[in-house]
Amino acid sequence: MQSLLSVQNISKHFGNIHALRNVSLDISPKEIIGLAGENGAGKSTLVRIICGALSYDSGEMSYQGKPYKPHDVSNAESLGISVFHQEIPICPHLSIAANVFLGPMIPSQRGRPDWKLMNNRCIELYRKFLDEDIDPTVPIGECSAAEQQLALLVRVLSRNAKLVILDEPTTALSAPEVERLFDSIRRLKDEQGIGFIFVSHLLDELMELSDEIFVLRDGENVGHLYKAEFSAKELSRLIAGRSIDERHRIAKDISDAEIALEAKSISLSKSYEDISFSVHKGEVFGIAGLQGSGRSEVISSLFGLPPPDKGSVVIRGNDFGRITISRAIAAGVGYLPEDRKTKGIFPDLNIAKNIGIVSISQSKDLTGYNEEDYIKVANNMATKLSIKISNPRDYISALSGGNQQKAMLARWLALSPSILVLNEPTRGVDIAAKAEIAKIIFDMAGAGCTIIMASSEMEELLIMCDRILVMNRGRAKIILEKESLTKENLFFYAMS
Ligand SMILES: Nc1ncnc2c1ncn2[C@@H]1O[C@H](COP(=O)(O)OP(=O)(O)OP(=O)(O)O)[C@@H](O)[C@H]1O
Ligand SMILES: [Mg+2]
Repeated sequence: MQSLLSVQNISKHFGNIHALRNVSLDISPKEIIGLAGENGAGKSTLVRIICGALSYDSGEMSYQGKPYKPHDVSNAESLGISVFHQEIPICPHLSIAANVFLGPMIPSQRGRPDWKLMNNRCIELYRKFLDEDIDPTVPIGECSAAEQQLALLVRVLSRNAKLVILDEPTTALSAPEVERLFDSIRRLKDEQGIGFIFVSHLLDELMELSDEIFVLRDGENVGHLYKAEFSAKELSRLIAGRSIDERHRIAKDISDAEIALEAKSISLSKSYEDISFSVHKGEVFGIAGLQGSGRSEVISSLFGLPPPDKGSVVIRGNDFGRITISRAIAAGVGYLPEDRKTKGIFPDLNIAKNIGIVSISQSKDLTGYNEEDYIKVANNMATKLSIKISNPRDYISALSGGNQQKAMLARWLALSPSILVLNEPTRGVDIAAKAEIAKIIFDMAGAGCTIIMASSEMEELLIMCDRILVMNRGRAKIILEKESLTKENLFFYAMS
């Protein structure tokens, strides 16, 4: 079959970083290519070159048999190459339909946007691509992260694409939503002959969806596997360049340790009801549950985002009643939000400030800070967490997605918190770095820090936690510990 897109010997550097060196890749119509590699391996850079967002130094590409050198994103789109990438912005105040049609609004005869037509067309697109009925007039800011992700996908799919590139599209989706997305991808591939390039850190997903997988390491091709050759072991070896030592937490009995944080019958209207638990000093306490179970809302409430509207949060014996962000920070609580794009990074600040901002603002009068203080903190944390940084004075957006996530974690670790509340700590982080983050969390817990974490990845919770609270439709179902901490139990209580 004629290849849809052929990429040959592409190289690209940013300053002294070689993001890509002679990278090649081939994709046919009706084919799903998986693209794997560590954080900073060059996946997004390659994707951005293919979709016309970035120029390259050398190499060539051909598309449908002809030389292909897009001058910008809309040029690539007009040829049928569309991308869904990690950092697509949304306009929270605009409706779902407006976000789907952002850019090519459908004008009415009087030249104003034709909302009625766009709303109807939006409903049709959702039916076609996701097999779902929606209300297109809802402001997208009121939708869950998963729904926002799906809207952005519909936007990409709606542009008559022949090649769709999905750069980590599943990071905010729950397991059933991922399945729904995969079903529509397979349907679009079979029925409309669309080719897909799929970037992910989750090996199971890569192996399930892809026909072939290309692996990049340090900007170079290091592997190309066909379906029959897929194995998690081989993939992780290719990705990391070594075998990864995945440590499980050896659950400790901390029931005698003092109580660090206690949630007393907390409720938040429309999110969760009557949740109680206490977490001991030095414990790693997990919160599990499907998307929409209240998992994420409970964890953000512990940091006052927003506070529960009933019940109270008690920190080391201090009853805070209504917990606010500043009270939480003053009590030594650090918090990593779920969505780094909108609630984590400060895009207009450099890497050093993004990392140092909380610890320095706590330790000094802000007028007395100097750039070097931030750089010292950032360099120190970058070494600890192996964050791939070339210059701490670069904007945070110069970091790859996974390295931005590590920088967010670094911001709170630099504060040496006594309680660390983490919402999806390893979202978008590669398998080797995941193991590093797990180790850091174990070490911190060992040194007496209390960790409370929520994650959509059950495996991750099982590896890291001493006890796990399972949420289901806004209610606490059970707290699993010791022998009852099994995957079967987690699924059973989360789904039943
Ligand atoms: N605009 C930029 N300026 C400077 N360096 C950049 C820029 N964009 C990317 N880089 C660097 O190029 C390298 C490759 O980054 P890229 O975003 O392609 O990685 P990735 O494989 O997508 O990683 P992740 O899995 O973390 O998303 C990284 O070292 C990154 O810091
Ligand atoms: Mg990336």
